[in-house]
Amino acid sequence: MATPLSEEHRESIENPETYWAKAADDCYWYKTCDKILDDSKKPFYKWFKGGITNTCFNALDLHINNGLGEQLALIYDSPVTDTIKQYTYNDLRDEVATFAGVLTDNGVTKGDRVVVYMPMIPEAAIAMLACARIGAVHSVVFGGFASKELATRIDDAKPKVIVSASCGIEVQKVIPYKPLLDEAINLADYKPDKSIILQRWMEKATMDPKRDVDWKDAMAVAIAQECVPIEATDPLYILYTSGTTGQPKGVVRDNGGHMVALKWSMKAVYDVDEGDVFWAASDVGWVVGHSYIVYGPLLKGCTTVLFEGKPVGTPDAGAFWRVISQHKVKTLFTAPTAFRAIKRDDPDAKFLKDYDISSFKALFLAGERSDPDTLKWAETNLKVPVIDHWWQTETGWAIAANCMGIEPLPVKYGSPTKAVPGWNLMVLDQDSQEVPDGDIGTLAVKLPLPPGTLPTLWKNDERFISAYLDEFPGYFTTSDAGFLDEEGYVYVMARTDDIINVAGHRLSTGAMEEILADHPDVAECAVLGVADQLKGQLPMGFLVLKAGASEDHGKIIKEVIASVRERIGPVAAFKIATVVQRLPKTRSGKILRGTIQKIADNEEWNMPATIDDPEILGEMEEVLVNMGYAGARK
Ligand code: COA
Ligand code: AMP
Repeated sequence: MATPLSEEHRESIENPETYWAKAADDCYWYKTCDKILDDSKKPFYKWFKGGITNTCFNALDLHINNGLGEQLALIYDSPVTDTIKQYTYNDLRDEVATFAGVLTDNGVTKGDRVVVYMPMIPEAAIAMLACARIGAVHSVVFGGFASKELATRIDDAKPKVIVSASCGIEVQKVIPYKPLLDEAINLADYKPDKSIILQRWMEKATMDPKRDVDWKDAMAVAIAQECVPIEATDPLYILYTSGTTGQPKGVVRDNGGHMVALKWSMKAVYDVDEGDVFWAASDVGWVVGHSYIVYGPLLKGCTTVLFEGKPVGTPDAGAFWRVISQHKVKTLFTAPTAFRAIKRDDPDAKFLKDYDISSFKALFLAGERSDPDTLKWAETNLKVPVIDHWWQTETGWAIAANCMGIEPLPVKYGSPTKAVPGWNLMVLDQDSQEVPDGDIGTLAVKLPLPPGTLPTLWKNDERFISAYLDEFPGYFTTSDAGFLDEEGYVYVMARTDDIINVAGHRLSTGAMEEILADHPDVAECAVLGVADQLKGQLPMGFLVLKAGASEDHGKIIKEVIASVRERIGPVAAFKIATVVQRLPKTRSGKILRGTIQKIADNEEWNMPATIDDPEILGEMEEVLVNMGYAGARK
């Protein structure tokens, strides 16, 4: 994209400092910055250097000072516990300020890390905002990760305190979190000083009197804390995301740029205003939850909905319509997989007839490619704009979207529309040259990235450079491949690395391969993502066994499946594996994962010129057909 897409986009690319300075005026600063964009240490950029602010102040206190104290800030809707609880801005600020006191009582000060390992309950948001209030850096870990993954994050973030709950609830299953946390602390080399545990009535955790603090007891005696002035460039949070190995990347988010970009995005991208009800049906453990359950809507003065349920099964495929109707939701943001689940259970959208959803104005989808079928189904039934938008944990907000608050554009199915202001998006070939419109290449963003994106990886500037900046000097690689059409519409086709997307959850097949390879009978292995009608992709494992390995292949398969669940967690959804004689490789020994995936999905594929032994692909095809894939797929 050599030429800007609109007047607004041109302004943001040609004069980024003027553009974002204007957006920053919408936020409260104790001291305005000395430099809008500090580029003195390229390729590291700092937005709003010298500015002093507080994200929690902007998300809560500012609205109260502006007279919105009695407006609803957060609605907790939990069909799994049959609870609905409402918090006004006054209520939420009081809870957050008091929990900030609990953190302070437990030794947390500015710059300390706090890991939050919690289900979808208001206390998760309260803990995050309380950290922001006192300048502590939160790192939320998704509840579906196993102890080992939590331990890896504890070792990297080195939190002074961990905040958790006795359990989560998955539809009808109670998942005890506390034993998972205890095991993680056991596995980690680094030990936090304290764990603050919220006891939920459906599962009481056993407490260790030396380390564990009861949330409610601590709240009863804590003294509410005021907001602490924070440098705009100080970290607000670390969010770990899958890399190409078992070691996740600690994406850092600063305070100032994040606050400015998210508040701006609420109007520009989502077209919501103060007082509107915004619902991101995701989880606080993912970036969508950080940006659009907690920070974005509260910074804008909206009412955010925190939903502890699923699109289906809690109790039925009408759950989303019930929430929209009951809380007068204007805008819903979720992953396409949620809509595929609803469509599967209620193809004619019969449940919709039971609800008045007249408040509802737009549906935004992200986290994975929106398949046109699902998108059209939602459009037809909901009769509102359905907007696919594309972003990543690293970017924190949308790279490409149909910006409803700027200028809604015609939808092209299969495209998340155009680059959002702030993003100088290009499609590059291997030599960092722009490719012609319509040609596929790597989607890369010319530096500097706009505010609110990642300034670096936690304590790892080197990996930040090697993972994102080295491949195309002067650009940030998204690791997504795609193309731009002649009108600048973006098409996101596939990852260029080994990341797969399972039910909108980002997972590393490399991390799964590391686990499979640890099995004593496995000589070699490959994991790749095969297409799945509900979850988009599912991981599938191929095992080549060592000579003399057990003949009981079923047992080996069960064991590797159990290991992935134990070491990564149920969220990996690793349930399909098979034993093969050998794996197809290039002459240089690289496993042809992409070709296997195409065969499995019954897509067109070409015989790779560099293949070592073409016959192996025939063997693979046979194995896949027997498993119900390849030619056995419609
Ligand atoms: N804590 C503990 N376990 C969790 C969990 C959590 N927070 N979240 C998921 N899990 C478990 C699930 O119970 C399931 O376990 P199982 O193998 O024992 O059944 C496993 O992890 C896989 O979960 P999930 O991928 O969510 O599959 P599902 O079959 O339970 O539900 C969907 C499928 C499509 C309904 C669900 O993924 C969904 O609602 N997704 C859409 C929204 C979303 O969260 N998007 C994320 C980014 S926007
Ligand atoms: P995550 O960091 O978990 O948000 O995952 C980001 C990745 O999900 C991106 O790099 C894409 O591969 C994929 N993704 C997210 N949104 C979209 C979208 N709208 N279209 C296509 N892929 C998407």
